[in-house]
Parts: sequence; structure tokens; C-alpha cells
Amino acid sequence: MDDRKQIYRILCFLVLFCSFIYPCLSELCHPQDKKALLQIKKGFNNPHVFSTWDPNTDCCVNWGGAHCDEKNNRIETLEIYFGGGDLSGPIPPEIGDLPYLRTLWWHKQPNLTGPIPQSITKLERLSYLVITWANLSGPIPDFLSEIKSLVSIEFSFNNLTGSIPSSLSRLPNLTGLALDRNKLTGPIPDSFGEFQGFSFYLKLSHNQLSGKIPASLGKKDFTYVDLSRNKLEGDASVLFGSNKKMTQQVYLSRNSFEFDLSEVEFPKSLIELDLSHNKITGSIPVGLTAVDYLQGLNVSYNRLCGKIPVGGALQGFDYTVYFHNRCLCGSPLMESCK
Ligand SMILES: *[C@@H]1O[C@H](CO)[C@@H](O)[C@H](O)[C@H]1NC(C)=O
Ligand SMILES: *[C@@H]1O[C@H](CO)[C@@H](O)[C@H](O)[C@H]1NC(C)=O
Ligand SMILES: *[C@@H]1O[C@H](CO)[C@@H](O)[C@H](O)[C@H]1NC(C)=O
Ligand SMILES: *[C@@H]1O[C@H](CO)[C@@H](O)[C@H](O)[C@H]1NC(C)=O
Ligand SMILES: *[C@@H]1O[C@H](CO)[C@@H](O)[C@H](O)[C@H]1NC(C)=O
Repeated sequence: MDDRKQIYRILCFLVLFCSFIYPCLSELCHPQDKKALLQIKKGFNNPHVFSTWDPNTDCCVNWGGAHCDEKNNRIETLEIYFGGGDLSGPIPPEIGDLPYLRTLWWHKQPNLTGPIPQSITKLERLSYLVITWANLSGPIPDFLSEIKSLVSIEFSFNNLTGSIPSSLSRLPNLTGLALDRNKLTGPIPDSFGEFQGFSFYLKLSHNQLSGKIPASLGKKDFTYVDLSRNKLEGDASVLFGSNKKMTQQVYLSRNSFEFDLSEVEFPKSLIELDLSHNKITGSIPVGLTAVDYLQGLNVSYNRLCGKIPVGGALQGFDYTVYFHNRCLCGSPLMESCK
């Protein structure tokens, strides 16, 4: 009986003791992260921004758009992707004071302006840097190449200017780069054939990039390449060839590419190909009929000639994928070959 009483007393004590220290134990948020987040909120200087970020509550529990990792209870993700966000003005430099941050994903923030801050180079674990449909301006900074942990960089739909730094190819784990729909100028860096990442996507469309596709890109087997709506010229055939085993989607429309298509070998893995609105000459190679999974094709508005090869998916497409060429003929075009 005495033993029981003793245990009961200990339990009572434990319950009292635990309820006393419970408030501090229950706060999972690391004080350093809380401080940084509150400074970021303050930096945006807008009462509607991060309204759930209340200093009296736990930042790991229900601070909208902020998530802690389960192991260390450190801020791992900052995300807003439903749009309608109120982020306005430049990104506060305190973004660099979240040392466990892996994902920064801010989407549809039209009032988010200013440059990409240098302080993000302090984020040694940052893997996903995605700030899309915003109004960031200034250059794509060279210092991004210091964040070796980066896996993907996306700045689609912003107002970024200047040329693309060639140092990005030194990021060892990078598997995707999306800089489409900005105001970038200059060439595609020569170094872009050196990307190490497997299954790489490269989106550079809707910019003002100029010059030729560097020959080094022939070494890289991109899964997805979109270079459309730029001012690129010359030969694009390095993106194809029998050495490519993974290339699935290639979009090159509305440039000034000028090369002979007749001898190009298309990878068997190809699913979509848009070459429209260029100055491509020659004829459509018969090899294209052997691309088994071709679902999309557009070679319209070029200078192609000769008979559309019969077979594979080629007669299944609308005639508009072939029209406005110099002298293409045969099905599905109305023009029969003489
Ligand atoms: C952006 O700023 C403008 C002008 O201050 C404001 O009218 C608009 O509501 C803001 N948009 C968003 C999505 O916050
Ligand atoms: C984008 O930012 C620039 C300043 O960098 C500003 O002049 C412009 O009005 C902003 N655009 C929108 C749509 O908010
Ligand atoms: C880009 O910046 C220019 C100049 O600062 C501004 O006039 C324009 O509205 C911005 N574009 C967008 C899409 O915000
Ligand atoms: C690159 O990825 C590998 C595998 O996920 C990881 O072990 C390595 O730490 C990463 N490198 C850097 C610099 O983050
Ligand atoms: C092919 O591209 C041309 C030119 O942009 C366009 O008019 C046509 O509709 C496209 N065809 C298909 C099937 O997408």
C-alpha cells in the first residue's frame, strides 16, 4: 500500500511540474528563427503581410506559409503559392537568417519588387529557390553559384534584366533552371553544357537572348528545353542527335534559327517538338516517323520543302503544324507532291 502512495505522490509531483514548465516546452519554434521571421514580416512593412505571424504564438504551429522540419523544429520552408499574397517591396535581407531553410517558394506576388538579396548566400541548405510571377528586378546574380545546395532555381515571370551568369553551371546538384518571361539579354552561356544534374530542365523562353546555341549544349541531355521567343540564331541541331536518351520536350519557336533539318536525328524519347517561326531549311527527316511517343509537333512558318514522310504520328497532326513553309507537300497538307 505504501509503495502505491509513494508512486502516486511522484506522479502528482510530475504532473504539477510538467504543467508548470509546459508553456516553454510546448514552444517548438527556435528563438533565432522567430526573430528572423518577425524581422522579415516587419521588413515588408504591410499589416496584411503574414498576419498569422504573432510573436506570442509558436512559429512551428500555425504561422501561415512557414513550416518547421520535424527533426530540429527549425524553419525549413517558406511558401505562398495560391497567389493573392500581399508581399510588397523588396525581399528583406533577414531572409538569410534562417539557416535551415530548404525551400523558398513564393508565387504570384506582383508587388514584390527589387533585387535578389545577397544575404541568401548564407542559406547553406537552400535547395528550392522559386520566386515566380512577381516583379523582381535587377540581374540574375552571380552569387547564386555560391549556394551549392541549390537543386532548382525558378524566377519565371519577373522583371529581371542583364545576362545569365555562366557560373550557374557550377552548381553541383542543380537539375532545373527556369528564367523564362523576364527581360534577359545576351547569350546562353558556353558553360551550360556542363550542368551535372540528371534529368535537367532549362526554361529560358520569352526573353531577349541572342546569339547562337553554344556547341557545348550538345553534351547535355536535357529532359525539357524551352528557348522559344528569344532572338537566338544559327544551328539548333546540337539539341538533338542519337546520343540523347532523355530529351522529351523541345520548344524553339519564334527565334531566328537557321539550319538544315534533313539530316537531324531525333531522339526516340521525344514527346513534343515546336520549331515554328524560324528559318529552318531542308526537309522533314524520315526518322521522325520512328519517334514512337511523339504527341506534339509544330514546324510551321519555316523554309522546309519536300514530302512529309508517311508514318508514325506525322499524318495524325493538324495541317497547321506544317503550313507556311516553302514547299512542303503531302498529307495532312492539301498540296500533293508532284
Ligand atoms: C499591389 O499594390 C497595389 C498598389 O499599392 C494594390 O492596389 C494592390 O492591391 C496590390 N496587390 C496585391 C496582390 O497585393
Ligand atoms: C514593378 O516594379 C517597378 C519598380 O521596380 C515599378 O515601377 C512597377 O510599377 C512595378 N510593376 C507592377 C506591376 O507593380
Ligand atoms: C518592370 O519594370 C519596369 C520599369 O521599372 C516597369 O515599368 C514595369 O511595370 C515592370 N513590369 C512588370 C511586369 O511589373
Ligand atoms: C547534393 O545532393 C546529394 C544527394 O542528395 C547530397 O548528399 C549533397 O550533400 C548535395 N550537395 C550539396 C552541396 O548540397
Ligand atoms: C502551329 O504553330 C502555328 C504558328 O504559331 C499556329 O498557328 C498553329 O495553330 C499551330 N498548330 C497547332 C496544332 O498547334
